[in-house]
Amino acid sequence: MALVGQTGGLGWHLKAWRYRRPLWAGYLQQTASFLEDWSAQSLEPAGIKRLIIVGASAGWSLPPQWVRSFDELVFIDPDPLAPWLFGRNHPQPPGQSRAWHRRAFAQVLPQLLAKPGPWAVLFNNLLGQLRLTSQDLQATESELARLKDQLAGQSWASFHDRLSGDWSQARPQAPTLLTGPHDNAALTRAYAQSGQWLDHLTSDVLPPDAPRRLYPWRIAPDRLHLVEAGWVAPHQG
Ligand SMILES: C[S@@+](CC[C@H](N)C(=O)[O-])C[C@H]1O[C@@H](n2cnc3c(N)ncnc32)[C@H](O)[C@@H]1O
Repeated sequence: MALVGQTGGLGWHLKAWRYRRPLWAGYLQQTASFLEDWSAQSLEPAGIKRLIIVGASAGWSLPPQWVRSFDELVFIDPDPLAPWLFGRNHPQPPGQSRAWHRRAFAQVLPQLLAKPGPWAVLFNNLLGQLRLTSQDLQATESELARLKDQLAGQSWASFHDRLSGDWSQARPQAPTLLTGPHDNAALTRAYAQSGQWLDHLTSDVLPPDAPRRLYPWRIAPDRLHLVEAGWVAPHQG
């Protein structure tokens, strides 16, 4: 299944299993802090206890306590290994209901959002991966930019790759959380050291006024991803 092989599947799980402990601590901490802030500042005040996780995979990036905090979870991911591995990483607590849709999200998300709510949606480090399966990069970039219009009136969040590239193994410390300019040119100047840096086509995913944070993810010894995270409440965007 090309959709899975390019952005997930066995290769992704092996990478996560291998590098999560030695290299990902900073990324996992920043992601956990982002998701906990989203819950505390947006979901809990709105009484939202149901969540759709798009690109759920095995939940390698999600904090277990945060996953346990929802009454109802719906997962979307075509990866056949994802449900079993997610259950291992995040055992289902008593009282929480779970359902899986092993499809591309465009095929199921509209029907899921029509269910009685309120629901929130998390794009779980997926949107920056869509360029890897894209047949037409310009069309993919436009689709990504339109997503916020399709989700208008919805509580949603995304953390996704903005840029990625080579990272010298001689420099163990990647720069910490960035505030300040976040256009691609400034980010490339701040992070890129050598080689070709990849634009993940996600610079217009979040509405321009959405609060966001940017943080590095040393995904492998010689590779750095720059992750952008932000949420949108129904009155925003
Ligand atoms: C790089 S993984 C990241 C997953 C997750 N953030 C984690 O930490 O485990 C991207 C996931 O998105 C899934 N995926 C790719 N295209 C998708 C689509 N169109 N709809 C839903 N899931 C998709 C892949 O199968 C893969 O599991």
